[in-house]
Amino acid sequence: MTREDLTKLLADMTLSEKIGQLVQIPGFLIEKGSVLTGPALEMGFTEENLYNVGATLSILSFDRIKEIQDEFMAHQPHHIPMLFMADIINGYRSVFPIPLAQGCSFDPELSGELAAMSAKESAANGLHVTFSPMVDLVRDARWGRVMESTGEDTYLNARFAEEIVKGYQGNDISDAQSVAACVKHFAAYGAPEGGRDYNTVELSERTLRDDYLPAYHAAVDAGVEMVMTSFNTIDRIPATGNEAIMRKLLRDEWGFNGTLISDWAAINELITNGVAEDEMEAAELAIRAGVDMDMCTPVYASCLQKLVEEGRIEERLIDESCMRILELKNKLGLFEDPYHHAQEADVTKVVLCDAHRALCRKAAEESVVLLKNKKDILPLSKVGMNIAFIGPYVDAHRLYGVWSMLGREEDTVSVKEGVEAIDQENTCTFSKGCRLLDPKFPLYGFRGQETEEDTDDEELLLDAVIKAKKADVVVMCLGEHPCHSGEAGSRGNIRLPKPQRKLIKEIAKVNSNIVTIIFHGRPLDIRGIDKRSRAVMAAWFPGIEGGNAIARLLFGDAEPSGRLAMSFPYSIGQVPVHYDCFTTGREFSGDVTNRFQSKYLDIPNQPLYAFGHGLSYTTFDYVSVTLSNDVVRDGAPITLDVKIKNIGKRAGVEVVQLYIRDLKGSVVRPVKKLKGFERVALESGEEKTVSFVIDKEMLKFTRADMSYDAENGAFYAYVGSNSRTERHVSFTLADS
Ligand code: GLC
Repeated sequence: MTREDLTKLLADMTLSEKIGQLVQIPGFLIEKGSVLTGPALEMGFTEENLYNVGATLSILSFDRIKEIQDEFMAHQPHHIPMLFMADIINGYRSVFPIPLAQGCSFDPELSGELAAMSAKESAANGLHVTFSPMVDLVRDARWGRVMESTGEDTYLNARFAEEIVKGYQGNDISDAQSVAACVKHFAAYGAPEGGRDYNTVELSERTLRDDYLPAYHAAVDAGVEMVMTSFNTIDRIPATGNEAIMRKLLRDEWGFNGTLISDWAAINELITNGVAEDEMEAAELAIRAGVDMDMCTPVYASCLQKLVEEGRIEERLIDESCMRILELKNKLGLFEDPYHHAQEADVTKVVLCDAHRALCRKAAEESVVLLKNKKDILPLSKVGMNIAFIGPYVDAHRLYGVWSMLGREEDTVSVKEGVEAIDQENTCTFSKGCRLLDPKFPLYGFRGQETEEDTDDEELLLDAVIKAKKADVVVMCLGEHPCHSGEAGSRGNIRLPKPQRKLIKEIAKVNSNIVTIIFHGRPLDIRGIDKRSRAVMAAWFPGIEGGNAIARLLFGDAEPSGRLAMSFPYSIGQVPVHYDCFTTGREFSGDVTNRFQSKYLDIPNQPLYAFGHGLSYTTFDYVSVTLSNDVVRDGAPITLDVKIKNIGKRAGVEVVQLYIRDLKGSVVRPVKKLKGFERVALESGEEKTVSFVIDKEMLKFTRADMSYDAENGAFYAYVGSNSRTERHVSFTLADS
């Protein structure tokens, strides 16, 4: 349709029809058993306004999508196609690592490829929109949704946001292999007080702009078609009714003219937040804030018409939102093909094809972080060893995280299966060792209580101890349950469940050669694991190829290259903890006898493992760090060259990281801020030079007068393999 056609269509629609386009209904209203990702409210739709709705959620098979599309379009006065939307977060059926794991790859381009693969499988099955990427900056491991983010760094998240949006949308969302992306949750949902989901967010505008907003902005600049509002308040106004954020900033300042959808029931929740008297006022606040679509509540459907008729809102607000939704449908080509090419797709050739599996495995290999490797216990030899694999994750198949609606255990390779696929002449034994969950703490996921098969705990432990006694090396496979993280998965204690902590203590009594692999959705307090392990691998939830990736890394058929995208706290007491902090006026010198410093009496300031940390099986030497010039001027950037050499015996990948420190500003400046990174593959003995451009743009920040600019003065450029690096060169920013 042309813009004129759309304008004519809008003019022909009744107010009721236009309002219908602003409504998304949950799939369970249409499809029994459809996935529920929010509260099942009494929706109160009538037969008439139900068929007028513009979109639905979580209908996941093309046959049903086609039937529903045909039925609803037939009932629609203007036969306007519906949007079919879903949370395809880390892959459709070819499920890859959770986003926080992807962040640890420091490979945004790879995540772009993963998103394109996900879009291909989603579109072939009839979906039009995915509610991804989630780019909320996260610094609090208590919050369960850190697993959906690419981490604690502003720049890293922005790079991933850009590549993932481009991956999903391609060059044209009407293409058979593209879907529309929806960046979320706008804004700053990742900073809830106490790490408790849905809780209040209290940030200065400066912190919001300089730390939390850039990743959303990057998604908008990359052309994201949709933005989703967040549940939290910003400056004590819920985001979904926050005109300053949604209209003045998102639309006016950033120029976003795509579709803004609320999060699930977030419009209705303006009432429980205490800023709306009733649904009428909630609808008025949201439509004035520019929220185009009401997710899964009848607030818009039952209130907007009355608000217009009573003169409380202008009809043009409805027209603007309706036009944005019609434009999205038009960009998807739905007026010409309501099935978005899915009818012609051969899903058997697309879904879970070998190329997709291979990409999932590559992503899993790149996202695993080798945190520790004492005495180079890893990689394991392939000959003549007795290796005992022990733990509830040894033969677990649910390795794809809680947000994977379509992940299937039968599609997933366990660690045991991955190890058995390695060509080796070792004796490998396998033992569950203990339950995954602590029976004292029932866990409720998206589908009710998570339970485990009933087991004889003593028998499990005995079997594991016997095998550990005989082993040269024990590989522990431990972890959180997938439902320990994800939405509404906040934890006040971020250690592994007690049965697993007991298991490693018992195994360590009979064998000290322990390698531990953890499966998790968040950084954990792993001190008890760490001190009993010679090596520790953070595997996150690595997806369907997790077992193969981990086995290949363990035996050296793949090289570990992951680097932490989120700090591992020393303990829960440190949280929130992040590398780009401020010195304070009492920076800790390290001298604990001097009481009056910014420190704890009982724990260190530094996390157990810092942002950017990760080991390889080889060693890299930073031979030299040189600047082309030591003065940056507007329009006259400088180049920083880093020569690195692989001085170890094995090939490897180094993630060279560039951090900048502004030594003085009109406001306090972080001790480091990531401004560049590059994955560099080097054969043994090989050396390469990596170059970074340092320009004035990257030195800008929100100044004391709230202007966004850089300030002349002295800077450090740090270079290294993690955020703890002290290797730096100095430069200044001066006027032209
Ligand atoms: C949920 C989540 C959001 C998701 C939406 C639809 O409440 O907050 O991330 O996209 O509802 O499932």
